[in-house]
Amino acid sequence: MGSPSLILALIIVGLVLTVAIVLGLIAVLVWIGLKLLACIVAFIGSVLAGSVLALVVLLLVLAALALLYWFIFVVHRLPLFLVGLGNLTHIPAVPFILSELPGTAVRLGLRSKQTEQAKEGLSTEFTIGGRTTDGYTFMYGTASDSSYTKLSLDAPDQFAMAWTTFANVPYDLAPSLRLFAETLRDKEAATAQFWPTIARYGLVLNLIILENVSEARGGRLKAALGGAWTDEMQALQAAGALYVIDMTFFSQFPVSTVDGFPRFTPATLTFLKRESGAIVPFAIRVAGFNGGGMQHFVKSDPAWLYALQAAKTSITVWGIWLGHVYHWHIVTAAMQMTMFQTFGARHIVRQLLARQSNYLIAFDQFLLLVWGISPPTSVSTSAQFLQMMDAFAAGRPFSSDDPKTTIAALGLRKEDFTLHDDWDQYPVVRYLLIIWAAVECYVRLVIDANYASDDAIRHDAELQSWISASGDPSQGNVADLPPLDSKDALKRVLTSLIFRVTAHGAGRLNQAANPALTFVANFPPCLQDPNIPRPDTEMDTARLLAFLPKTGTIGAMATFLFTFTYSPPYEPFIPLAGVDADLPFTGATADACNAALAKFRRDVKAFMDLWAADAHVPPTPAQEHQWALNIET
Ligand SMILES: [Fe+2]
Repeated sequence: MGSPSLILALIIVGLVLTVAIVLGLIAVLVWIGLKLLACIVAFIGSVLAGSVLALVVLLLVLAALALLYWFIFVVHRLPLFLVGLGNLTHIPAVPFILSELPGTAVRLGLRSKQTEQAKEGLSTEFTIGGRTTDGYTFMYGTASDSSYTKLSLDAPDQFAMAWTTFANVPYDLAPSLRLFAETLRDKEAATAQFWPTIARYGLVLNLIILENVSEARGGRLKAALGGAWTDEMQALQAAGALYVIDMTFFSQFPVSTVDGFPRFTPATLTFLKRESGAIVPFAIRVAGFNGGGMQHFVKSDPAWLYALQAAKTSITVWGIWLGHVYHWHIVTAAMQMTMFQTFGARHIVRQLLARQSNYLIAFDQFLLLVWGISPPTSVSTSAQFLQMMDAFAAGRPFSSDDPKTTIAALGLRKEDFTLHDDWDQYPVVRYLLIIWAAVECYVRLVIDANYASDDAIRHDAELQSWISASGDPSQGNVADLPPLDSKDALKRVLTSLIFRVTAHGAGRLNQAANPALTFVANFPPCLQDPNIPRPDTEMDTARLLAFLPKTGTIGAMATFLFTFTYSPPYEPFIPLAGVDADLPFTGATADACNAALAKFRRDVKAFMDLWAADAHVPPTPAQEHQWALNIET
């Protein structure tokens, strides 16, 4: 320590110097400002004096400012050829709006702050590889030691490390832990729980994926399987009791390596049968890139548990990128872009659609720029993501994304999945159809209040421009949009779009993630070994767990899920002041439209109660304002 008088002197000198520097900087800025002002005055003087050169420069400056404004503040389609992806012609327009980039970065930064309490609640201790510490440390490491994040689990119940002890009180987790962990040890339990886990917990992954095998499809599968097509499969198909979950789409995409470990999305084809009222898997094909390493597993094989986990992995990746992001983000953003570009602010379609169209375009562009915020799948760059979206979009009409169209295309019959209430044996379908019905009613009431006839639709120039721009390959590039020649056609398009945004809002409720998705072995985002074992490989627990997500990957998945569940929406679907508050419709039909909106909110609230009852969590008002109005993340 120096003497007090010396320290005081240094502080005074420091202060004097700081004040002098600040005053100096202010003086420089004022001087520059005055010079600039003088230049502008002189320049305007030249313009007023009739200087042709000054006039030309003025016009050029104004044009440049207008162009800059247009570029920064107006939504545009990203020209994919600029990033070397001009060959992607199927994907709907990927919009961008630069002015929203800073706000998005700040909001997402706040999200990570908001999830801190939940992450700090990852405090349960585990012993893995002879090291004992809390789940947080295993998942995220320490400042000086990342080796904690590189471990395979020792025991199935360690997947509970992503269950936070914060605000999880509604759940009695012991039965879930027993059930979920058993699926990694016991063939019978794993086989029995495979389908119910997907059907019950796959809402935010939009998992309408089960396909009833028709005679024609059976013929194609038989040809593809050759000798692996069995008499049992034939008999089941003939009885209408054979199903497949086809995830062979993923054979197009290579394995990636992140943080020193492979991330592998296997291409799987899972055969299931209806048996005593249940849907049970009995054969699974697993293949790698371009079909490499393909193996055919049946339930009696020693490696059957591996095959089930491989199927779960591809289903999870399908759910994240195709079920959720393609269906709900990609097509919607393209049509929001054309909506913003086409309609005047007071047009009824703009009023209807725009109030749920904030944040999505900005979030998608941020995701493409900062791919590190994405979940830990084998899709490791935004270019790979765009390629995957393009491959999925090829030959896919707009209407294919709607749940009723999907259910029909998959050959699923309501009576096969109904015990008491419609589709109660396939809850994901049940939930999505209830949300669809709420949206359908809302859109019907608003459109009926604003269009007297089909003619009014046909003669609405803005509407016709919008649908034309949306389908135009050089603009929205959304395939096979129906012509808007009737009220029904408009209702179908708007219901589809508002449904996507509204269904997406469910992802913020606690039960969307807990306890099933946060037990990452239920929905693994990747396998961490790209080798596909032979079916006769003895698969003890340690060997099975070595294929599954490492501790750091579990942490990355928890971060992804917590971002939704443990932060408030930017705007809640149900206003804080209640369903009858913040009614925004204006114009001659405002009363009817606002009444429709209030009913829409009540319908979604009723669904929240139904879902809460199924998930054994408290009904509204608990989580009432957690449902997001827009697609935010
Ligand atoms: Fe999303």
